[in-house]
Amino acid sequence: MATVESPDPITLRRALGSFATGIAVVTGRRPDGEPFGLTASSFQSLSLDPPLVLYNAQKGAASLAFLAERPAFCVNILRRDQAWMARQFAEHRPDRFAGVAWEAGWSDCPVVEGALATFECRLWANYDGGDHVIVIGEVMRQRFVEVGDPLLYFRGSFMDGSGRDAPAQRQCTGGS
Ligand SMILES: Cc1cc2nc3c(=O)[nH]c(=O)nc-3n(C[C@H](O)[C@H](O)[C@H](O)COP(=O)(O)O)c2cc1C
Repeated sequence: MATVESPDPITLRRALGSFATGIAVVTGRRPDGEPFGLTASSFQSLSLDPPLVLYNAQKGAASLAFLAERPAFCVNILRRDQAWMARQFAEHRPDRFAGVAWEAGWSDCPVVEGALATFECRLWANYDGGDHVIVIGEVMRQRFVEVGDPLLYFRGSFMDGSGRDAPAQRQCTGGS
C-alpha cells in the first residue's frame, strides 16, 4: 500500500483504477446529422425522481461540443462481449460505428443493438468539473434486459465480470 501526498494526474489515475466500473458508449447526433459516440466509464445514476443520470466528458475531447451542448444523448451500457466496441469508440477514427448495429431512438440518437441497457436522455444540465464537464441527462426512455453479463473496467483493463480479461476481438457476427 503506497501513500502518496498530492498525487500527480498519472498516479491519481492509477489509484482511481481500483474502482471497477461498467462501460458505456454515449451517442448522439452532430449538428449535421451524423451520428457520433464515445466510450465512457464515468457513467453514473444520479436521481430516481426526477430520473437523472450523468457522465463526465473530457474538456479536450473533440466530441464535447456535440455531447454537452446537443439537446439529447443516449447512454448504451455494454455487454461483456462488446469490449471491441468500447475500444473502437475510444479511438481517433472517423468510422466509430463500423460494424455496430444501431437504430435511431428517441430524438434520433443512436441506440446500440445488444446493449445491456440504454438510456435515452434529454440534456438536463452541464457543470464544470475541472478538466471534465459533468453532463446530466433526464431519462426519457429506457430499454434493458435482465439477463446478460456486463463489460467491466478495472485497473486499465476490460474484464468480463468473472475476473478474467474480456475478449479483445469481436466474437459474434451480426451488425452492419
Ligand atoms: C475505458 C475508457 C473509458 C473512458 N471514459 C471516458 C469518460 O468517462 N469520459 C470521456 O470524456 N472520455 C472517456 N474516454 C475517452 C473517450 O472514449 C475518447 O477516447 C475521447 O473522448 C477522445 O475522443 P474525441 O476527442 O474524438 O471526442 C474513455 C476511454 C476508455 C478507453
